[in-house]
Amino acid sequence: MHIQPVKQLKGTLKVPGDKSISHRSIMFGALAKGTTTVEGFLTGEDCMSTIACFRQMGILIEQAQDKVTIQGKGLYGLTKPDSVLDVGNSGTTMRLMSGILSGQAFEVEITGDASIRKRPMDRIIRPLTSMNANIRSLSGNGLAPLLIKPSILKPINYVSPVASAQVKSSILLANLYTGSTSTVNEPTLSRNHSEIMLNHFGAKIEIKGSLVTSYPIKELFANHVVVPSDISSAAFFMVAGLICPNSDLLLKDVGVNPTRDGIIHVLKNMNGSIEIINERTVNGEPIADLHIKSSKLIGTVVEGDIIPTLIDEIPVIAVAAAYAEGRTTIKDASELKVKETNRIDTMVCELKKMNIHIEATKDGMVIVGGNRIQGAQVKSYDDHRVAMSLAIAALGATGNTTIENSSCIAISYPNFESDLSALTLH
Ligand code: S3P
Repeated sequence: MHIQPVKQLKGTLKVPGDKSISHRSIMFGALAKGTTTVEGFLTGEDCMSTIACFRQMGILIEQAQDKVTIQGKGLYGLTKPDSVLDVGNSGTTMRLMSGILSGQAFEVEITGDASIRKRPMDRIIRPLTSMNANIRSLSGNGLAPLLIKPSILKPINYVSPVASAQVKSSILLANLYTGSTSTVNEPTLSRNHSEIMLNHFGAKIEIKGSLVTSYPIKELFANHVVVPSDISSAAFFMVAGLICPNSDLLLKDVGVNPTRDGIIHVLKNMNGSIEIINERTVNGEPIADLHIKSSKLIGTVVEGDIIPTLIDEIPVIAVAAAYAEGRTTIKDASELKVKETNRIDTMVCELKKMNIHIEATKDGMVIVGGNRIQGAQVKSYDDHRVAMSLAIAALGATGNTTIENSSCIAISYPNFESDLSALTLH
Protein backbone atom coordinates (compact mmCIF):
# COMPACT_ATOMS: atom_id res chain seq x y z
CA MET A 1 0.00 0.00 0.00
CA HIS A 2 1.28 3.47 -0.90
CA ILE A 3 0.23 6.40 1.27
CA GLN A 4 0.72 10.06 0.43
CA PRO A 5 0.46 12.77 3.09
CA VAL A 6 -3.04 14.33 3.23
CA LYS A 7 -4.25 17.91 3.64
CA GLN A 8 -7.48 17.04 5.40
CA LEU A 9 -10.04 14.29 6.02
CA LYS A 10 -13.72 15.07 5.66
CA GLY A 11 -16.96 13.13 5.54
CA THR A 12 -19.12 10.40 7.06
CA LEU A 13 -18.07 6.78 7.38
CA LYS A 14 -19.60 3.59 8.70
CA VAL A 15 -16.73 1.19 9.34
CA PRO A 16 -17.45 -2.56 9.03
CA GLY A 17 -19.00 -4.72 11.73
CA ASP A 18 -17.35 -5.62 15.02
CA LYS A 19 -15.03 -8.60 14.65
CA SER A 20 -15.61 -10.03 18.15
CA ILE A 21 -19.39 -9.78 17.82
CA SER A 22 -19.41 -11.19 14.26
CA HIS A 23 -17.49 -14.32 15.36
CA ARG A 24 -19.85 -14.85 18.26
CA SER A 25 -22.97 -14.45 16.10
CA ILE A 26 -21.87 -17.43 13.98
CA MET A 27 -20.82 -19.61 16.91
CA PHE A 28 -23.87 -18.95 19.09
CA GLY A 29 -26.18 -19.08 16.06
CA ALA A 30 -24.79 -22.53 15.21
CA LEU A 31 -25.40 -23.78 18.78
CA ALA A 32 -28.90 -22.28 19.05
CA LYS A 33 -32.13 -23.97 17.97
CA GLY A 34 -33.62 -22.30 14.88
CA THR A 35 -32.63 -19.70 12.30
CA THR A 36 -30.37 -16.88 13.41
CA THR A 37 -30.07 -13.85 11.15
CA VAL A 38 -27.20 -11.38 11.31
CA GLU A 39 -26.86 -7.92 9.79
CA GLY A 40 -23.71 -5.82 9.77
CA PHE A 41 -21.56 -8.98 9.78
CA LEU A 42 -17.83 -8.38 9.19
CA THR A 43 -16.74 -10.22 6.06
CA GLY A 44 -13.05 -9.97 6.98
CA GLU A 45 -10.98 -13.14 6.63
CA ASP A 46 -11.04 -13.96 10.36
CA CYS A 47 -14.83 -14.12 10.55
CA MET A 48 -14.97 -16.03 7.26
CA SER A 49 -12.70 -18.63 8.92
CA THR A 50 -15.30 -19.03 11.66
CA ILE A 51 -18.04 -19.53 9.06
CA ALA A 52 -15.90 -22.12 7.25
CA CYS A 53 -15.24 -24.09 10.47
CA PHE A 54 -18.94 -24.29 11.39
CA ARG A 55 -19.92 -25.23 7.83
CA GLN A 56 -17.41 -28.07 8.14
CA MET A 57 -19.32 -29.20 11.23
CA GLY A 58 -22.58 -29.49 9.32
CA ILE A 59 -24.09 -26.05 9.93
CA LEU A 60 -25.87 -24.46 6.97
CA ILE A 61 -24.72 -20.83 6.76
CA GLU A 62 -25.74 -18.48 3.95
CA GLN A 63 -23.83 -15.23 3.60
CA ALA A 64 -24.38 -12.34 1.20
CA GLN A 65 -22.23 -9.34 2.01
CA ASP A 66 -22.95 -8.35 5.59
CA LYS A 67 -26.13 -10.44 5.90
CA VAL A 68 -25.83 -13.96 7.28
CA THR A 69 -28.36 -16.69 8.01
CA ILE A 70 -27.39 -19.60 10.23
CA GLN A 71 -29.53 -22.73 10.55
CA GLY A 72 -28.67 -23.58 14.15
CA LYS A 73 -28.92 -27.23 15.23
CA GLY A 74 -28.82 -26.80 19.00
CA LEU A 75 -26.05 -27.48 21.53
CA TYR A 76 -25.63 -31.08 20.37
CA GLY A 77 -26.14 -30.59 16.62
CA LEU A 78 -22.58 -30.19 15.36
CA THR A 79 -21.16 -33.09 13.38
CA LYS A 80 -17.59 -34.36 13.04
CA PRO A 81 -15.71 -32.43 10.33
CA ASP A 82 -14.11 -34.58 7.64
CA SER A 83 -10.77 -32.77 7.99
CA VAL A 84 -8.74 -30.57 10.31
CA LEU A 85 -10.45 -27.25 11.22
CA ASP A 86 -8.40 -24.29 10.05
CA VAL A 87 -8.91 -20.97 11.87
CA GLY A 88 -6.49 -19.05 9.64
CA ASN A 89 -5.18 -16.02 11.58
CA SER A 90 -8.02 -15.93 14.11
CA GLY A 91 -7.22 -16.34 17.81
CA THR A 92 -10.86 -15.75 18.72
CA THR A 93 -11.98 -18.66 16.52
CA MET A 94 -9.39 -21.03 17.95
CA ARG A 95 -9.88 -20.18 21.61
CA LEU A 96 -13.68 -19.87 21.69
CA MET A 97 -14.23 -22.89 19.45
CA SER A 98 -11.97 -24.99 21.73
CA GLY A 99 -14.48 -24.44 24.53
CA ILE A 100 -17.32 -25.59 22.29
CA LEU A 101 -15.42 -28.55 20.86
CA SER A 102 -14.44 -29.79 24.33
CA GLY A 103 -18.12 -30.62 24.87
CA GLN A 104 -18.71 -32.52 21.60
CA ALA A 105 -19.02 -36.25 21.11
CA PHE A 106 -16.42 -36.36 18.33
CA GLU A 107 -12.65 -36.01 18.01
CA VAL A 108 -11.34 -32.98 16.15
CA GLU A 109 -8.05 -31.28 15.31
CA ILE A 110 -7.73 -27.48 14.98
CA THR A 111 -4.90 -25.54 13.43
CA GLY A 112 -4.24 -22.15 11.83
CA ASP A 113 -1.63 -20.04 10.06
CA ALA A 114 2.01 -19.49 11.07
CA SER A 115 1.07 -16.64 13.45
CA ILE A 116 -1.66 -18.57 15.25
CA ARG A 117 0.69 -21.54 15.69
CA LYS A 118 3.00 -19.30 17.74
CA ARG A 119 0.32 -17.85 20.04
CA PRO A 120 -0.23 -19.26 23.55
CA MET A 121 -3.01 -21.84 23.73
CA ASP A 122 -2.00 -23.14 27.18
CA ARG A 123 -4.14 -20.29 28.58
CA ILE A 124 -7.24 -22.20 27.43
CA ILE A 125 -5.80 -25.73 27.62
CA ARG A 126 -5.24 -25.32 31.37
CA PRO A 127 -8.77 -24.28 32.48
CA LEU A 128 -10.46 -26.57 29.95
CA THR A 129 -8.36 -29.50 31.22
CA SER A 130 -9.49 -28.62 34.77
CA MET A 131 -13.04 -28.92 33.40
CA ASN A 132 -12.04 -32.48 32.39
CA ALA A 133 -11.72 -31.62 28.70
CA ASN A 134 -9.51 -33.94 26.71
CA ILE A 135 -7.54 -31.24 24.89
CA ARG A 136 -3.85 -31.16 24.08
CA SER A 137 -1.27 -29.34 22.07
CA LEU A 138 -0.09 -31.87 19.47
CA SER A 139 3.52 -30.76 19.79
CA GLY A 140 3.26 -30.64 23.58
CA ASN A 141 4.45 -27.04 23.78
CA GLY A 142 1.15 -25.29 24.50
CA LEU A 143 0.77 -24.24 20.87
CA ALA A 144 -1.63 -25.22 18.07
CA PRO A 145 -2.39 -27.60 16.41
CA LEU A 146 -4.74 -28.80 19.16
CA LEU A 147 -6.39 -32.20 19.40
CA ILE A 148 -9.70 -32.40 21.25
CA LYS A 149 -11.37 -35.72 22.14
CA PRO A 150 -14.77 -36.36 23.71
CA SER A 151 -15.09 -36.23 27.50
CA ILE A 152 -17.63 -35.49 30.21
CA LEU A 153 -17.13 -31.86 31.23
CA LYS A 154 -17.42 -30.63 34.79
CA PRO A 155 -17.82 -27.06 36.08
CA ILE A 156 -15.01 -24.80 37.27
CA ASN A 157 -14.49 -21.73 39.44
CA TYR A 158 -11.65 -20.20 37.51
CA VAL A 159 -9.49 -17.34 38.72
CA SER A 160 -7.91 -16.22 35.47
CA PRO A 161 -4.35 -14.89 35.60
CA VAL A 162 -5.08 -12.74 32.54
CA ALA A 163 -7.90 -10.37 31.54
CA SER A 164 -8.79 -12.17 28.31
CA ALA A 165 -12.24 -12.38 26.76
CA GLN A 166 -11.07 -15.31 24.69
CA VAL A 167 -10.16 -17.32 27.80
CA LYS A 168 -13.33 -16.28 29.63
CA SER A 169 -15.56 -17.06 26.63
CA SER A 170 -13.94 -20.45 26.06
CA ILE A 171 -14.85 -21.45 29.62
CA LEU A 172 -18.38 -20.01 29.37
CA LEU A 173 -18.96 -22.01 26.19
CA ALA A 174 -17.55 -25.22 27.68
CA ASN A 175 -19.83 -24.69 30.69
CA LEU A 176 -22.88 -25.03 28.41
CA TYR A 177 -21.96 -28.75 28.36
CA THR A 178 -21.55 -29.27 32.14
CA GLY A 179 -25.21 -28.95 33.11
CA SER A 180 -23.90 -26.99 36.08
CA THR A 181 -22.65 -23.57 37.27
CA SER A 182 -19.17 -22.19 36.55
CA THR A 183 -17.51 -18.89 37.42
CA VAL A 184 -14.68 -16.93 35.86
CA ASN A 185 -12.95 -14.20 37.84
CA GLU A 186 -10.64 -11.93 35.88
CA PRO A 187 -7.98 -9.52 37.19
CA THR A 188 -9.90 -6.77 35.37
CA LEU A 189 -13.03 -7.05 33.26
CA SER A 190 -12.35 -7.95 29.61
CA ARG A 191 -14.82 -7.39 26.76
CA ASN A 192 -18.22 -8.85 27.68
CA HIS A 193 -19.75 -9.50 24.25
CA SER A 194 -20.12 -13.25 24.94
CA GLU A 195 -22.04 -12.62 28.13
CA ILE A 196 -24.37 -10.09 26.47
CA MET A 197 -25.04 -12.15 23.35
CA LEU A 198 -25.34 -15.52 25.12
CA ASN A 199 -28.01 -13.98 27.37
CA HIS A 200 -29.84 -12.78 24.25
CA PHE A 201 -29.78 -16.36 23.01
CA GLY A 202 -31.36 -17.59 26.26
CA ALA A 203 -28.32 -18.37 28.40
CA LYS A 204 -28.20 -17.37 32.06
CA ILE A 205 -25.01 -15.44 32.64
CA GLU A 206 -24.54 -12.95 35.44
CA ILE A 207 -21.84 -10.27 35.55
CA LYS A 208 -20.78 -8.78 38.90
CA GLY A 209 -17.72 -6.60 38.39
CA SER A 210 -15.05 -8.90 37.01
CA LEU A 211 -16.81 -12.07 38.22
CA VAL A 212 -18.93 -13.87 35.64
CA THR A 213 -21.26 -16.72 36.60
CA SER A 214 -22.75 -19.08 34.04
CA TYR A 215 -25.80 -21.02 35.24
CA PRO A 216 -27.02 -24.24 33.59
CA ILE A 217 -29.43 -24.06 30.66
CA LYS A 218 -30.92 -26.71 28.39
CA GLU A 219 -30.85 -24.90 25.05
CA LEU A 220 -29.91 -21.68 23.27
CA PHE A 221 -32.53 -20.15 20.98
CA ALA A 222 -32.03 -18.42 17.62
CA ASN A 223 -32.07 -14.64 17.50
CA HIS A 224 -31.55 -11.65 15.22
CA VAL A 225 -28.17 -9.96 15.69
CA VAL A 226 -27.35 -6.41 14.58
CA VAL A 227 -23.58 -6.02 14.65
CA PRO A 228 -22.30 -2.55 15.63
CA SER A 229 -19.41 -0.98 13.68
CA ASP A 230 -16.10 -2.08 15.14
CA ILE A 231 -14.53 0.50 17.48
CA SER A 232 -11.19 -1.17 16.76
CA SER A 233 -11.58 -0.24 13.06
CA ALA A 234 -13.10 3.19 13.84
CA ALA A 235 -9.99 3.82 15.96
CA PHE A 236 -7.85 4.30 12.85
CA PHE A 237 -10.16 7.06 11.62
CA MET A 238 -10.47 8.65 15.07
CA VAL A 239 -6.71 9.10 15.17
CA ALA A 240 -6.55 10.10 11.48
CA GLY A 241 -9.19 12.79 11.99
CA LEU A 242 -7.42 14.16 15.07
CA ILE A 243 -3.92 14.36 13.57
CA CYS A 244 -4.73 15.60 10.05
CA PRO A 245 -5.31 19.36 9.80
CA ASN A 246 -8.78 20.83 9.08
CA SER A 247 -10.47 17.46 9.47
CA ASP A 248 -14.06 16.75 10.36
CA LEU A 249 -15.33 13.16 10.43
CA LEU A 250 -18.54 11.50 11.48
CA LEU A 251 -18.16 7.79 12.33
CA LYS A 252 -21.57 6.10 12.39
CA ASP A 253 -23.02 3.35 14.61
CA VAL A 254 -19.80 2.57 16.46
CA GLY A 255 -19.90 0.01 19.29
CA VAL A 256 -19.06 1.90 22.48
CA ASN A 257 -19.43 -0.91 25.01
CA PRO A 258 -17.55 0.29 28.16
CA THR A 259 -15.36 -2.83 27.97
CA ARG A 260 -14.11 -1.61 24.58
CA ASP A 261 -14.17 2.20 24.66
CA GLY A 262 -10.82 2.93 26.35
CA ILE A 263 -9.46 4.60 23.23
CA ILE A 264 -12.11 7.32 23.42
CA HIS A 265 -11.09 8.16 27.00
CA VAL A 266 -7.40 8.18 26.12
CA LEU A 267 -7.79 10.36 23.03
CA LYS A 268 -9.98 12.78 24.98
CA ASN A 269 -7.29 12.92 27.71
CA MET A 270 -4.87 13.77 24.93
CA ASN A 271 -7.06 16.80 24.14
CA GLY A 272 -8.72 15.11 21.17
CA SER A 273 -12.04 16.54 20.04
CA ILE A 274 -14.39 13.54 20.05
CA GLU A 275 -18.09 14.13 20.51
CA ILE A 276 -20.27 11.11 21.28
CA ILE A 277 -23.73 11.59 19.80
CA ASN A 278 -26.90 9.63 19.15
CA GLU A 279 -26.18 7.05 21.89
CA ARG A 280 -28.46 4.02 21.87
CA THR A 281 -28.46 0.28 22.59
CA VAL A 282 -28.83 -2.54 20.06
CA ASN A 283 -29.03 -6.18 21.24
CA GLY A 284 -27.73 -5.04 24.62
CA GLU A 285 -24.67 -3.42 23.02
CA PRO A 286 -24.26 0.38 23.40
CA ILE A 287 -23.61 2.19 20.10
CA ALA A 288 -23.12 5.85 19.14
CA ASP A 289 -21.91 8.16 16.38
CA LEU A 290 -18.53 9.81 16.91
CA HIS A 291 -17.77 13.30 15.67
CA ILE A 292 -14.03 13.86 15.30
CA LYS A 293 -12.26 17.16 14.63
CA SER A 294 -8.55 17.96 14.18
CA SER A 295 -6.93 18.64 17.55
CA LYS A 296 -3.60 19.63 19.06
CA LEU A 297 -2.86 16.44 20.97
CA ILE A 298 -0.79 16.24 24.15
CA GLY A 299 1.02 13.25 25.68
CA THR A 300 -0.58 11.04 28.33
CA VAL A 301 -0.12 7.94 30.47
CA VAL A 302 -2.08 4.80 29.59
CA GLU A 303 -1.96 2.10 32.29
CA GLY A 304 -3.88 -0.17 34.65
CA ASP A 305 -7.50 -1.30 34.36
CA ILE A 306 -8.14 0.62 31.13
CA ILE A 307 -5.65 -1.57 29.19
CA PRO A 308 -8.02 -4.50 28.38
CA THR A 309 -10.58 -1.98 27.06
CA LEU A 310 -8.15 -0.69 24.41
CA ILE A 311 -5.67 -3.53 23.94
CA ASP A 312 -6.19 -3.79 20.15
CA GLU A 313 -5.99 0.00 19.74
CA ILE A 314 -2.56 0.49 21.34
CA PRO A 315 -0.71 0.43 17.98
CA VAL A 316 -2.78 3.37 16.72
CA ILE A 317 -2.63 5.12 20.13
CA ALA A 318 1.16 5.02 19.68
CA VAL A 319 0.65 6.81 16.36
CA ALA A 320 -1.51 9.49 18.03
CA ALA A 321 1.26 9.90 20.63
CA ALA A 322 3.83 10.48 17.88
CA TYR A 323 1.74 13.45 16.69
CA ALA A 324 1.17 14.75 20.24
CA GLU A 325 3.23 17.28 22.13
CA GLY A 326 5.27 15.69 24.93
CA ARG A 327 5.69 12.18 26.24
CA THR A 328 3.21 9.31 26.22
CA THR A 329 3.83 6.26 28.39
CA ILE A 330 1.98 2.97 27.85
CA LYS A 331 2.33 0.45 30.71
CA ASP A 332 0.77 -2.85 31.86
CA ALA A 333 0.38 -3.97 28.26
CA SER A 334 2.48 -7.18 28.11
CA GLU A 335 -0.49 -8.86 26.40
CA LEU A 336 0.58 -6.96 23.27
CA LYS A 337 3.47 -9.40 22.98
CA VAL A 338 1.13 -12.33 22.24
CA LYS A 339 -1.14 -10.74 19.64
CA GLU A 340 -0.92 -11.46 15.88
CA THR A 341 2.67 -10.21 16.27
CA ASN A 342 4.59 -8.90 19.26
CA ARG A 343 3.01 -5.47 18.78
CA ILE A 344 5.47 -3.71 21.09
CA ASP A 345 8.41 -4.84 18.96
CA THR A 346 6.77 -4.49 15.56
CA MET A 347 5.36 -1.00 16.19
CA VAL A 348 8.55 0.33 17.80
CA CYS A 349 10.70 -1.01 14.97
CA GLU A 350 8.52 0.36 12.15
CA LEU A 351 7.64 3.74 13.70
CA LYS A 352 11.38 4.36 14.26
CA LYS A 353 11.82 4.07 10.49
CA MET A 354 9.48 7.07 10.22
CA ASN A 355 11.71 9.15 12.50
CA ILE A 356 9.35 8.76 15.45
CA HIS A 357 10.92 8.87 18.89
CA ILE A 358 9.66 5.61 20.43
CA GLU A 359 11.20 3.02 22.76
CA ALA A 360 9.99 -0.36 23.98
CA THR A 361 9.70 -0.97 27.72
CA LYS A 362 9.14 -4.27 29.55
CA ASP A 363 5.35 -3.96 29.38
CA GLY A 364 4.65 -1.20 26.88
CA MET A 365 6.33 1.72 25.17
CA VAL A 366 7.30 5.36 25.56
CA ILE A 367 6.73 7.80 22.72
CA VAL A 368 7.96 11.38 22.63
CA GLY A 369 5.95 13.39 20.13
CA GLY A 370 7.03 16.39 18.15
CA ASN A 371 9.68 14.88 15.86
CA ARG A 372 9.14 15.59 12.17
CA ILE A 373 7.58 12.35 10.93
CA GLN A 374 9.00 11.06 7.65
CA GLY A 375 7.49 8.76 5.07
CA ALA A 376 9.39 5.47 4.83
CA GLN A 377 9.31 1.93 3.52
CA VAL A 378 7.77 -0.08 6.38
CA LYS A 379 6.56 -3.64 7.01
CA SER A 380 3.31 -5.06 8.38
CA TYR A 381 4.73 -8.44 9.52
CA ASP A 382 1.35 -9.70 8.20
CA ASP A 383 -0.38 -8.07 11.18
CA HIS A 384 -3.52 -6.23 10.05
CA ARG A 385 -3.55 -3.69 12.87
CA VAL A 386 0.15 -2.91 12.45
CA ALA A 387 -0.44 -2.30 8.73
CA MET A 388 -3.39 0.07 9.30
CA SER A 389 -1.63 1.92 12.15
CA LEU A 390 1.35 2.56 9.87
CA ALA A 391 -1.00 3.85 7.17
CA ILE A 392 -2.42 6.38 9.65
CA ALA A 393 1.09 7.39 10.77
CA ALA A 394 1.89 8.09 7.12
CA LEU A 395 -0.98 10.57 6.63
CA GLY A 396 0.78 13.46 8.34
CA ALA A 397 4.34 12.56 7.36
CA THR A 398 6.67 14.40 5.03
CA GLY A 399 7.03 12.29 1.89
CA ASN A 400 5.38 9.07 0.84
CA THR A 401 5.18 5.76 2.69
CA THR A 402 5.06 2.23 1.34
CA ILE A 403 3.68 -0.53 3.54
CA GLU A 404 4.92 -4.00 2.57
CA ASN A 405 2.55 -6.97 2.90
CA SER A 406 -0.49 -4.79 3.41
CA SER A 407 -2.91 -7.44 2.09
CA CYS A 408 -3.27 -8.73 5.69
CA ILE A 409 -5.58 -5.73 6.26
CA ALA A 410 -8.34 -7.93 4.77
CA ILE A 411 -8.30 -9.92 8.03
CA SER A 412 -10.40 -7.27 9.73
CA TYR A 413 -11.06 -4.44 7.26
CA PRO A 414 -11.15 -5.46 3.57
CA ASN A 415 -12.13 -1.96 2.31
CA PHE A 416 -9.80 0.06 4.52
CA GLU A 417 -7.86 1.63 1.65
CA SER A 418 -10.91 2.73 -0.34
CA ASP A 419 -12.69 4.01 2.81
CA LEU A 420 -9.61 6.08 3.63
CA SER A 421 -9.28 7.50 0.11
CA ALA A 422 -12.96 8.43 0.03
CA LEU A 423 -12.41 10.82 2.97
CA THR A 424 -9.06 12.18 1.84
CA LEU A 425 -8.08 15.49 0.24
CA HIS A 426 -4.43 15.65 -0.82
C1 S3P B 1 -11.04 -10.79 21.45
C2 S3P B 1 -10.37 -10.63 22.64
C3 S3P B 1 -9.06 -9.97 22.76
C4 S3P B 1 -8.72 -9.15 21.54
C5 S3P B 1 -9.01 -9.90 20.27
C6 S3P B 1 -10.48 -10.28 20.19
C7 S3P B 1 -12.34 -11.48 21.46
O1 S3P B 1 -8.07 -10.96 22.92
O2 S3P B 1 -7.38 -8.74 21.57
O3 S3P B 1 -8.69 -9.09 19.15
O4 S3P B 1 -13.06 -11.42 20.43
O5 S3P B 1 -12.69 -12.10 22.47
P1 S3P B 1 -7.70 -11.60 24.36
O6 S3P B 1 -8.84 -12.39 24.84
O7 S3P B 1 -6.50 -12.46 24.07
O8 S3P B 1 -7.37 -10.44 25.24
